[in-house]
Amino acid sequence: MKRNSLFLLSIVYCLLSLQFCTTDPLRMCDRVFLKQPIPKLTRIAFGSCADQDLDQSILNEVVKKQPQLFVYLGDNIYGDSYNIHELEARYGKLSCKKEFQNLITHTNVIATWDDHDYGHNDSGDDYAPKEESKQVFLKFFGEENNDARQSHKGVYTSYTYGDSSNLVQIILLDLRTFRTPLIGSFENGYSPNYDSAASMMGAEQWNWLRNELLKPAKLRIIASSSRFDTEADGGESWGNFPEEQARMFQLIRTTQANGVLFLTGDIHFGELCKRKENNLYPIYDCTASPLARHANEPWFNQYQIATSPVGYNFGTLDIDWEQTDPQLSFHIFNLDGNETMNHSFHLSEIHF
Ligand SMILES: [Fe+2]
Repeated sequence: MKRNSLFLLSIVYCLLSLQFCTTDPLRMCDRVFLKQPIPKLTRIAFGSCADQDLDQSILNEVVKKQPQLFVYLGDNIYGDSYNIHELEARYGKLSCKKEFQNLITHTNVIATWDDHDYGHNDSGDDYAPKEESKQVFLKFFGEENNDARQSHKGVYTSYTYGDSSNLVQIILLDLRTFRTPLIGSFENGYSPNYDSAASMMGAEQWNWLRNELLKPAKLRIIASSSRFDTEADGGESWGNFPEEQARMFQLIRTTQANGVLFLTGDIHFGELCKRKENNLYPIYDCTASPLARHANEPWFNQYQIATSPVGYNFGTLDIDWEQTDPQLSFHIFNLDGNETMNHSFHLSEIHF
């Protein structure tokens, strides 16, 4: 090869290398999140498990329901890597989806994470690059300057909407950063861990949650990536940590926090559970999953009161503040935007 050709080739190589090294996957497509004030929260939507390599058109159906807020409940992408650049690239791919752009420009969006976007399948506190992953997550959702989230480990945080007559508190838990390793395996199933040192949330997050539950609110929506109500069934859920699950019930009792319900994801089917424990009002747990990933046939648990058919889905929670005893309605919708499940109740049902 002639010297001139070699020189030109080396220039091209250098330029390509420079571009590769300096391209920030999170800058490939702008994310301008809607920041619309919500004076009174009457409809939120929620969902989980969205594979960035698959069609996200269900997000267009979310937008059509005109929620004031969308809560990403985790597995928002399938990163599944110890390499932060790979994780960033997969977030970047979601950024460029027009359906995602439609969502974030028409609906306020808040988020927590689960295993696949945090690190890899079923990972917990043993995932080493958790801090780097957190910074990518915060940057992706435009939360890198959120002082509350930057002031502690993990991504847990809370938001409030409305005034004292209709105040809604949304608590986003982090069930990955502090979670002790599971007993068992994905292939053979997990077993409950009764060790008092085992934790879903870690001591600091528990203390924070206690303070949150002591704050005033009419309705408290706890966004938990893992299903809350169910007992251990071999998959991931709070049931794998019965002591932690009992601690949550006890925390609600001791703080006398009214209006607590759970929104959950992760499991690739939609369901509604309702669990009654002694000296506590019923705890609702509405699961919406998947937005865009394989869908499972629902499996039974003793607290289940409804399921949605196999398929992509998202949920909404409507709050009718105009009634003397405000009415709450869970809905699950499919890929066509058709309702597949609903359940209504009054706020007084989830009061001491
Ligand atoms: Fe998950």
